[in-house]
Amino acid sequence: PRNVTRDADGALVVAGLGVRELAAEFGTPVYVLDEDDLRSRCRDFRAAFPDEDIYYAGKAFTCRAVVRIIAEEGLFLDVCSGGELAVALAAGMPAERIGFHGNNKSPAELARAVDAGVGRIVVDSFHEIDRLSALARDRGVRPKVLIRVTVGVEAHTHEFIATAHEDQKFGFSLSGGAAAEAAFRILDEDVLELRGLHSHIGSQIFDTSGFEVAARRILGLQAQIRDARGVELPELDLGGGFGIAYTTQDDPSPPHDLAKRINKIVDGECEAMRLAVPRLSIEPGRAIIGPAVFTLYEIGTVKDVDGIRTYVSVDGGMSDNIRTALYGASYSATIASRASTAEPILARVVGKHCEAGDVVVKDEFLPADVQPGDLLAVPGTGAYCRSMASNYNHVPRPPVVAVRDGRARLIVRRETEDDLLALDVG
Ligand code: LLP
Repeated sequence: PRNVTRDADGALVVAGLGVRELAAEFGTPVYVLDEDDLRSRCRDFRAAFPDEDIYYAGKAFTCRAVVRIIAEEGLFLDVCSGGELAVALAAGMPAERIGFHGNNKSPAELARAVDAGVGRIVVDSFHEIDRLSALARDRGVRPKVLIRVTVGVEAHTHEFIATAHEDQKFGFSLSGGAAAEAAFRILDEDVLELRGLHSHIGSQIFDTSGFEVAARRILGLQAQIRDARGVELPELDLGGGFGIAYTTQDDPSPPHDLAKRINKIVDGECEAMRLAVPRLSIEPGRAIIGPAVFTLYEIGTVKDVDGIRTYVSVDGGMSDNIRTALYGASYSATIASRASTAEPILARVVGKHCEAGDVVVKDEFLPADVQPGDLLAVPGTGAYCRSMASNYNHVPRPPVVAVRDGRARLIVRRETEDDLLALDVG
């Protein structure tokens, strides 16, 4: 997070609060959210994309307090399940600022979204078009929809690939003609209001040329729809996926640069195809919340294994951060509770779970005097850590504490063993 310094003992201080005090009050592991950092990232995106709608992708992390912050900062919200929709509505996010995604939204979820009056539903299959049309006819309403288009571009970090076929579960294939057919069907039925097209090409992207290819292809479809039906769809969503720095190796573009490049691509393509420039929207998740959070753990054991490596075990692990085990994601770690002048040793930060792959940080240099009782901070855990947390080994999920101006506010409490036992009915 942005508001982190060290005190005279070398302990981390975040928004004016020492980590030892935070650990004493809330226990460990704990996710610490630097609220001003989160707000400043929202503002950076708002300033960079003033004429666009920014839908925060709630799947990265959501809870009522975060939804309220997002709403106060003028962002919209992308949800992709009934549960995320429930949190958004409970937090008071105006329904017209909510977008609803998903490749298999249930009839109940669709009904709830329509009844709540969400601003747009991103349709993902012909079955869904039929279901939603029936629902709309039934209720005498005309929901606004976007079509999720699979543009044959897949982007991850520094590379993207553009393929001719689109072999994945999301969206309507562009090359196979399904996307055009979906548009024609919605336009013909007239019970849904087709607002625009949508594409999302991947996550943790640094190479913006993937967006370039995606925009060109999707605007080609926009032109095809205009030529066939004489309508220019007023909106275009290019999805999320903007990369963040997990380690010093990563070098993400600031939102201003992204905005400049994306607008240039869209403006250029629209000019070439003589299309009016649609209203753009984007869906960043990770880039908004990821860097604003760090996880604070306490070290329980330190083990030197045959002089090869030192295993440092923390009091959480793959249940609060599955990303290392699942994706081979890279994180960094630092001793948070004190400074040390000891020489650095190569360490692996592991969790407390009964699984050899329970790794939080694969390789990190920690001071040789690292010991039980030290607090360890892992930065960049705001996105897809708490939201993908599990109860593996019946480990209760950690709390989220928002810090700002020297004050700490619990926004998600720690799960308890009673919470876990409450689900057992036998
Ligand atoms: N919009 C759509 C339609 C998406 O599917 C996603 C992410 C986003 C926006 C937000 O992407 P972001 O800006 O956060 O990269 N669990 C994985 C990431 C899966 C993302 C799925 N969709 C991870 O931990 O890296």
